[in-house]
Amino acid sequence: MTRFSVLPDPAAVCAAMADLVVESAAAAIDEQGIFRIALSGGGTPKTVYPMLLEPHRRDAVDWSRVEFFWGDERAVPPDDPQSNFGVAYAMLIARLPNVRPARIHRMPAEAPDLDAAALGYESELRVAFGTRGGEFPAFDLVWLGMGPDGHTASLFPGSAALDETERAVVANWAPHPRAWRMTLTFPVFDAARRVVFVVEGKNKADAIRAVRAGGSGLPAERVSGEGVEWLLDAAAAGEESG
Ligand code: 6PG
Repeated sequence: MTRFSVLPDPAAVCAAMADLVVESAAAAIDEQGIFRIALSGGGTPKTVYPMLLEPHRRDAVDWSRVEFFWGDERAVPPDDPQSNFGVAYAMLIARLPNVRPARIHRMPAEAPDLDAAALGYESELRVAFGTRGGEFPAFDLVWLGMGPDGHTASLFPGSAALDETERAVVANWAPHPRAWRMTLTFPVFDAARRVVFVVEGKNKADAIRAVRAGGSGLPAERVSGEGVEWLLDAAAAGEESG
């Protein structure tokens, strides 16, 4: 059953996610010696990343045992302000102690042949997770956001990647702004041990209402099941008073 938690405001939502990342990392490292996370793109992570650098959280994790991946990436170079990798690297990863460069897996979505690059990233996942044949990588934590149109990662309503059942990573066309992207696919999200959506803002309330009612067909709703939970602020949950 997918769980929804509503917190008063964006700061509370982002602090809850920062605590959840630390808790998931500590548990996975304790259990298996490694923590593999798929980071979200978009703007919300920019509030969470500084919270992860606060000493009580930063010092609670052995970052040398954390392996960083991305849920999706824009077709821009890593130093572009739009780059999900660039934001995470500058605001978090470069500021953490003991991160191992070989455990930072950037999606090369600026590659001229995006499909070949997606296949290459899929191979990188296979090596990192030690998966074989048709197995999908089982992330310890997938961190997702949701757009007002109900997209998540770069799985947009009506886009080709929604129907992907074989590949873990594909190129996909984004309608606004019109551009190519690289994204993980639903089978990867379904294989994850834990998926957390972090959603804030009134502009998401309609999509959240549709997802919670069920039967919306929105991409974000298709990521569902036992290990899926949503952290919402009151505005996104449509509970904002006044
Ligand atoms: C991206 C994201 C995308 C994002 C949502 C929410 O690359 O843009 O992966 O799916 O999570 O659009 O973005 P905000 O957090 O900025 O609302």
